[in-house]
Amino acid sequence: MRRPQEWPPKPCKVAVLPLQTGFLMRIPEALKPLLDDGIIDEVRRQLKSGKEASVYVVSSGGEIRCAKVYKDMGQRSFQQRAQYQEGRKVRGSRQARAMAKSTRYGRKEQEEAWKNTEVDALYQLVSAGVRVPKPFGFFSGVLLMELVADGEGNSAPRLGEVELTPEVARDFHRFLIGQVVRMLCVGLIHGDLSEFNVLVGADGPVIIDLPQAVSAAGNNNAFAMLSRDVRNLTETLGRFAPELLATDYAGEMWALYEKGELAPDSALTGICVKDETVPDVGEVMHAIDEAREEAIRRELGRQAAEAS
Ligand SMILES: Nc1ncnc2c1ncn2[C@@H]1O[C@H](COP(=O)(O)OP(=O)(O)O)[C@@H](O)[C@H]1O
Ligand SMILES: [Mg+2]
Repeated sequence: MRRPQEWPPKPCKVAVLPLQTGFLMRIPEALKPLLDDGIIDEVRRQLKSGKEASVYVVSSGGEIRCAKVYKDMGQRSFQQRAQYQEGRKVRGSRQARAMAKSTRYGRKEQEEAWKNTEVDALYQLVSAGVRVPKPFGFFSGVLLMELVADGEGNSAPRLGEVELTPEVARDFHRFLIGQVVRMLCVGLIHGDLSEFNVLVGADGPVIIDLPQAVSAAGNNNAFAMLSRDVRNLTETLGRFAPELLATDYAGEMWALYEKGELAPDSALTGICVKDETVPDVGEVMHAIDEAREEAIRRELGRQAAEAS
């Protein structure tokens, strides 16, 4: 694990990545078409090989960028993804049927849908003002995007790898809750938000890793996923500012979202008042009796009409 870093970072005038001269890395198969087509000029180094993707530092048009290569479907749990894909739009009915049946064509379509979700989400979120890596296109199954860097130009640490003062932890929490709200305003829930998928860039937290982003309106698990995302962020930052652990932003933003009242600048309190009024049992029983009598009356009426 990386040494905890200080935040905020010390200012640095030039942000350049050290060139690793004299070291030639083997070019990954997936990046060869991009090199051949001149989309990238050079593969500098492998940044991370995560559970679902490998990320490389590349140079492209004179800029240092990141290339994300997705791992094969076989390496990911099929069932686990089923809950994310609910409510996701697919292009045609043939595609939807194939995906549902999980035929070979269906698997390929699912694979494409998975990759495209991340690219689509990044473009959508950039335009909604959410701080995610800026995408530079999707080529032969590879996502090219901004390299999120720290103040020295090195790839940024993850949120779980930095030591924060309580004050900065509270600032990050406020900012990240605001980002989750913005995402929800465009109908998206990250679905895997945690200390591993937030980078601490030179200008603050940046949310990454969105292939599983879910549609808030079309997924039955939407609120559960939103709650988990918010809880993960809160628990990570609550290590530095324990008072955060008493907040409930997910319930509050979801209540506003469901009423169609959530806006990017909605002022949230972190307090969610649950409806804990005890139902009046007598009243409920009375309503049930009335409904039953009404049904009997209707049934008798129907029988009488049939007999005449
Ligand atoms: N745009 C980026 N800038 C800097 N580092 C990145 C970027 N995208 C990914 N990484 C690094 O690569 C790791 C894996 O990428 P991620 O998108 O989270 O894929 P995975 O599905 O494998 O978790 C991240 O934890 C992060 O350290
Ligand atoms: Mg990740």
